Amino acid sequence: MPTPINIDLARLDTPATLQKVHFNNAGAALMPEPVLAAVIDHLNLEAQIGGYEAANQEEKRIDGVYDSIAKLIRCHRDEIAVVENATRAWDMAFYSLPFKAGDRILTACNEYASNYIAFMQVAKLRGVKIDVIDNDQHGQIDLDQLKEKIDDQVKLIAITHVPTNGGLVNPAEAVGRIAKEHKITYLLDACQSVGQLDLSVEAIGCDLLSATGRKYLRGPRGTGFLYVRKSILDQLEPPFLDLHAAEWTSRDKYEMRQDARRFENWECNVAAKLGLGTAVDYALTIGLGNIEKRVIELASHLRSALGEIDGVTVQDLGQKKCGIVTFSVAALSAIEVKKLLAVDGINVAASTLSGTRIDMESRGLLDLVRASVHYYNTEEEIIKFCAAVRAIRS
Ligand SMILES: Cc1ncc(COP(=O)(O)O)c(C=O)c1O
Repeated sequence: MPTPINIDLARLDTPATLQKVHFNNAGAALMPEPVLAAVIDHLNLEAQIGGYEAANQEEKRIDGVYDSIAKLIRCHRDEIAVVENATRAWDMAFYSLPFKAGDRILTACNEYASNYIAFMQVAKLRGVKIDVIDNDQHGQIDLDQLKEKIDDQVKLIAITHVPTNGGLVNPAEAVGRIAKEHKITYLLDACQSVGQLDLSVEAIGCDLLSATGRKYLRGPRGTGFLYVRKSILDQLEPPFLDLHAAEWTSRDKYEMRQDARRFENWECNVAAKLGLGTAVDYALTIGLGNIEKRVIELASHLRSALGEIDGVTVQDLGQKKCGIVTFSVAALSAIEVKKLLAVDGINVAASTLSGTRIDMESRGLLDLVRASVHYYNTEEEIIKFCAAVRAIRS
């Protein structure tokens, strides 16, 4: 499969590819060497000269992380907050919205559990109503129904770009056009799409976007970021403020920061933050367009090959599909398949009912095997993977 990406080099930078078939990139992708080095070097520096002193010394590089992320999703650096994970990014955005009784939230069938739990909590505590838009015939959010459900009470459209349990890519840009037309705040969970798809917040039209570092971006665990559109920043007061997010300006007053970093907190894992910045730069050097193309092609080959195996059902929905491939194996649970593949040095994940309950229940599924490929995976690995799945069946 021709690709402008130097796969040999990418694999050299990823030594674990010699030992493992890592098809769990939607869980946590393998960090490339420069990312690992950025984290370890900074930890060493902290041990050698002190944590605060190390941060001072590396101030420029730490600051540069915002420029890198801004370049990645095509926004301004002041619109980025770096936080611990995608959930914290999403929560900080969601809980800053001024909901009142009777307000409505529109979401999709494959919304992630943590997000939906937050909807239910706000419904319980503040009397907000949750409306789940059905899927269309392709299994993605039904845009016509979304339009029909909009009224003056709708205060938020919140959807997941790529669900945790499938290759589906929701039509985030079309949703953005609808949200914009009706002037409704649009929060996009891009946890599974950032790093594998070439994203632009301008093209998507979202006001808020949450992402994680460890998945397709290949960053360290415990990193994530939030995008907040400048034009809505002033309307949002984060649920938690500290002396980094705001300044105590007089005895009875505080002033929030004027940028998205009002959603951050002061103490953070600086080494991991530098690792995240390095991971973003690494992805930008390869090119997100190149990554997207390669990931989609590899996943499409994997789906076709799995589809030919007796007793295997590929479960992905959507018109556009990404690097996540989900399937079921007759008479075996996803956990059993995952364990059996692990014996062969193959990493996959098992998605269970409670991660995306509405979607799983509507499809009558209890679980799914999730094999997620990245650009550094190969056709040879797909062949090996399918042979291992076939062997499980025999
Ligand atoms: C769609 C989606 N949103 C959010 C999250 C949460 O991300 P994090 O674990 O970084 O908080 C996940 C994690 O799998 C996810 O799949």
